Amino acid sequence: MKKTILTGIRVNSEPTLGNFLGAILPMVRLANAHSLEYNINIFIPDLHSIISEVEGDFQENILRSIKYYIAAGLKINENVHVYRQSYVPAHSEMCWILNCVASMGELGRMTQYKDKGQGKESVNVGIFDYPVLMAADILLHSASYIPVGEDQFQHLELTRNLAIRFNHKYGEILTVPENTETQMKFMGTGEGIRIRDLVHPEKKMSKSTDSDNSKILLSDAPERAAKKIMSATTDSVGKIKYDMFNQPGISNLLQIEALVNNIPLQDVISTWQGETHYGDLKKKVAHSISTFLESFQENMAAIPDEMVLELFETGEAYANDVADKKLLEVQKAFKLR
Ligand code: TYM
Repeated sequence: MKKTILTGIRVNSEPTLGNFLGAILPMVRLANAHSLEYNINIFIPDLHSIISEVEGDFQENILRSIKYYIAAGLKINENVHVYRQSYVPAHSEMCWILNCVASMGELGRMTQYKDKGQGKESVNVGIFDYPVLMAADILLHSASYIPVGEDQFQHLELTRNLAIRFNHKYGEILTVPENTETQMKFMGTGEGIRIRDLVHPEKKMSKSTDSDNSKILLSDAPERAAKKIMSATTDSVGKIKYDMFNQPGISNLLQIEALVNNIPLQDVISTWQGETHYGDLKKKVAHSISTFLESFQENMAAIPDEMVLELFETGEAYANDVADKKLLEVQKAFKLR
């Protein structure tokens, strides 16, 4: 049976460069390299998106989200499947069944849940249950590889644990995704991707950051994005070194430079290590980002909505077929059928 590579990004707001470099671009590169031997599932977790307020036009965000992959160079063929989560109802039912496999304790330990709930008087149940629906998305399609940023590794580990626990009780029904180390090797990144906030590089770049200078959005004017890189926080060490702990700002720039240009991180590090002029590195990265955004935004504008809608039509028929078959096996295991 053909293996599956699967990913999705939420569409509740405009994605950042972090989302792009952590999930979209790695998926495009994997898809273009492997779509003859693997199924490539790119889906819109629209149900995950409503855990918080949706900014902008939801339907417009959904169409744009698929266009990001195409604008970044995704080659479409019959092994590439594009679908919306809520159009494949088996995901929600699988989530319920997995709720009966997962424990409150393990969900309560999820960092994302703790972060999102921090300081809030009331947290919706969707935020708590989020990783179980994510596990359903992955396990119904028997995905082996899931290109996501480092912040999602804990959810991947949970997915593996749920699948292992399920199989232990009911037999080998679910495909256990590869562990994160194997995933990283497959992606060729060597390490988990966590693009940092440009002003506070000790934090990850996030959609929800208030400061505009902290994040680059895919819709930012190229010159504006270049300025944000030029004003990024660095450090007072005075020598370029890849050291995320002591020099997170500089290390972030090196990582962005490597990912945007598809150059191994080690090569970028060798080029810049020991240099003392931070400004030169900033100029180079600013140029890389603005050049990338210019052509990316041009590509985006040329993709018609109809193209995405057609992909949904075939992708959703495929996804429903695969998901329903797997769900039936799971229902039978629970004697629901
Ligand atoms: P979302 O929308 O929160 O994030 C989308 C992807 O962007 C990555 N990401 C980053 N990567 C690097 N640096 C950053 N600063 C950064 N910020 C975000 C995230 O790791 C993620 O890969 N739960 C998923 C959506 C989802 C999903 C799935 C993914 C639902 N079901 C099944 C894969 C498989 C999420 O985090 O979306």
